Amino acid sequence: MEHDAGIRLLFVCLGNICRSPLAEAVMRRMVNERGLAEWISIDSAGTGAWHAGEPPDQRMRQVASERGVSMDGQRASQLQASDLDRYTHIFVMDKSNLHDTLYLDIEDRNGHKVRLFRELDPVPGDYQVPDPYYGGPGGFENVFGIVERTCAEILDRLVREYSLDSKSK
Ligand code: 4NP
Repeated sequence: MEHDAGIRLLFVCLGNICRSPLAEAVMRRMVNERGLAEWISIDSAGTGAWHAGEPPDQRMRQVASERGVSMDGQRASQLQASDLDRYTHIFVMDKSNLHDTLYLDIEDRNGHKVRLFRELDPVPGDYQVPDPYYGGPGGFENVFGIVERTCAEILDRLVREYSLDSKSK
């Protein structure tokens, strides 16, 4: 039987080809490893439409695959206002994503679901995940480290908050 714990995660960045699809892939792997796939669904979107329909950036895929994370089959999509209703937890990668996401919340219904991803980063520092798109390979490695440790923290918190340990299989 299909279960739905109602936990629907959405990661948001600008292009949906680097940071947020990586967070989606990393979180999906962690959720699968802990046997929680029936309880937590995961998705990502970009505030911009330029890359809609494209696979993730080759440089991000490379760094991910070197660390055992597959981004195969992912395709970019643009964030829609209806996504704010549909998802239960929305994590944005930087302050401009925060602005653009909240801007879609026309009736001020869903702001409580939206927060900066790095608010949950266990390593104190900047609140934003730097955009690696126009930089060198080091930027993608840096993003991977931030995303990996922050996704682990988010999942630990969800497991505690929703008592999911008793449900994993
Ligand atoms: P992302 O990176 O927001 O992490 O997917 C970017 C991808 C594309 C662009 C900017 C950032 N762009 O300007 O096309």
